[in-house]
Amino acid sequence: MKLLEEVQLKPVESLKGKDLLTLLDYTSKEVQDLLELATQLKTITKQGKCPRLLEGKTLGMIFEKSSTRTRVSFEVGMQQLGGYGMYMNARDMQIGRGEPISDTGKVLSGYLDGIMIRANSHEMVKELAEHATIPVINGLTDLFHPCQALADLETIAENKGELKGLKVAYIGDGNNVAHSLVIACAHMGMHVAVASPEGYACDANIMAKAKAIAEATGGSVTLTTDPIAAVKDADAVYADVWTSMGQEEETQQRLIDFKDYQINDELVAHAKSDYMFLHCLPAHREEEVTSSVIDGPNSYIYEQAENRLHAQKAVLVSLLA
Ligand code: CP
Ligand code: NVA
Repeated sequence: MKLLEEVQLKPVESLKGKDLLTLLDYTSKEVQDLLELATQLKTITKQGKCPRLLEGKTLGMIFEKSSTRTRVSFEVGMQQLGGYGMYMNARDMQIGRGEPISDTGKVLSGYLDGIMIRANSHEMVKELAEHATIPVINGLTDLFHPCQALADLETIAENKGELKGLKVAYIGDGNNVAHSLVIACAHMGMHVAVASPEGYACDANIMAKAKAIAEATGGSVTLTTDPIAAVKDADAVYADVWTSMGQEEETQQRLIDFKDYQINDELVAHAKSDYMFLHCLPAHREEEVTSSVIDGPNSYIYEQAENRLHAQKAVLVSLLA
């Protein structure tokens, strides 16, 4: 507690013991408080004063899919907070051989203090959370990527100051990253425009919920098929891959369907001159974004990737401490 007072850190009390499956389950105030805590944790970590609030605690990290950023940032984050992040490849676990997810959740709750999981199916992660008695954190599912969205908004906030009223344009597939970005922007009273080709729009149900949040915060959510309209006067322009993990068979078709949705110099000319380019990474240069943009002066991709570490520490401290 002493360390906590010294650095005046405020874990988000209302989130203690909760899951993080989607930011739809959090209030706008909770999202805002997490973002502020993330920036505080970043500052004190860089001063070498990250408090060991998770001393003796273990986070199990289950992966059904590949990862660079999520795995390393959660593992390092736990270590910086004095705890331990235990990597588990789902293929090596009994869930890979058909053990019920309910049993897995109950058993792991006896060993661990929290579970981070990257899974194919959001429904499966919900089931895990229902049966586990410890917090479950979504490290990406087919529907959501909430930790990514927290890092994204932390990055915009740290560079632009205020988030409220800013415009974010997401160009591409209406996927997990898009859903979480839209929800997070809605919570923060931002204007978010998503441009996707016909047939690749965001999930209508999720968008209806995000729009309801935006109505309460003074933000807005716009879906379009026109990338120029989406990017017009944007403060941030966001890309993700056209083919997500697990969709590899659709790669050739998607290259055709998304060809007019590349973020290039011509498109970003419609954004504000000081726009930020963001990408959750990994990226495919010359597909969803040209090298001139992603490696250009308006790109914040490495800072954004680093912020996964601090945003997730804010989540870990609030849920597990
Ligand atoms: N952005 C992201 O989640 O990266 P990884 O797939 O490397 O974890
Ligand atoms: N939409 C991408 C994000 C990767 C971090 C995927 O699901 O593969």
